[in-house]
Amino acid sequence: MVALATEHVIDVRHWNDSLFSFRATRDPGFRFESGQFVMIGLEVDGRPLMRAYSIASASWEEHLEFFSIKVPNGPLTSRLQHLRPGDPLVVSRKSTGTLVLDDLKPGRNLYLLGTGTGLAPFMSIVRDPATYERYEKIVLAHGVRHVSDLAYADYIENELPRHEYLGELVREKLIYYPTVTREPYRNRGRITDAIVDGVMSQATGLPPLSPATDRVMLCGSPAMLEDLCALLDGRGFQASPRTREQGDYVIERAFVEK
Ligand code: A2P
Repeated sequence: MVALATEHVIDVRHWNDSLFSFRATRDPGFRFESGQFVMIGLEVDGRPLMRAYSIASASWEEHLEFFSIKVPNGPLTSRLQHLRPGDPLVVSRKSTGTLVLDDLKPGRNLYLLGTGTGLAPFMSIVRDPATYERYEKIVLAHGVRHVSDLAYADYIENELPRHEYLGELVREKLIYYPTVTREPYRNRGRITDAIVDGVMSQATGLPPLSPATDRVMLCGSPAMLEDLCALLDGRGFQASPRTREQGDYVIERAFVEK
């Protein structure tokens, strides 16, 4: 069994009625790679109730950050959403996951395509200096239903470009492409359609997605992953066959509690 540690909540941010994020203390001995997930949870009736959560903070940061959906009757999220600063949070000591830079072959541009809470691992990756060392441009696409679901938008557009250490790299290399499907917004429609119609390419100023130059990370619902894998496979991209083996793209399911 993997050992568990008890951390403490630092702060909580509610983005809207269905999404929130929170930061917690981090054991200095706890190591992870940007993009990985960890089991976190709460002690309920004397037993840990744990779920896999992507870590949204960078591996160099002192705290841990998580981005979650709120499910009214979800065993864990119905409780997590009421977290307050100082509350205990159980965190497994072992991180894992497929969305790691090392599992991608070298390339020119990195596409981070996420829907819903699938943004979480990419918030870690866009805060990792290694990402900017390896790629010329990083496209962070976030597809959501409603404008209020665009969590972190202000941070990505306004704070990160002014970040003390990362700001210059972010300004030079990061292209944010938020898109909304169910209400008016400057970018409308699904990420899949934006790729196929060439709308994303127009917005980023980059050529159409090609395995010759581009690497991709996907994080979203099973349906989103299925469609995007088919799209990428159709363009000749090869998925990383398994952890620690390189490919043109890597995938992971976004956290959603039933
Ligand atoms: P849509 O509103 O057209 O369903 P969800 O919350 O269901 O995971 O959806 C988050 C975002 O992902 C929504 O904008 C949704 O669009 C979009 N989405 C859902 N299914 C797919 C898919 N198969 N491919 C691409 N985007 C998808």
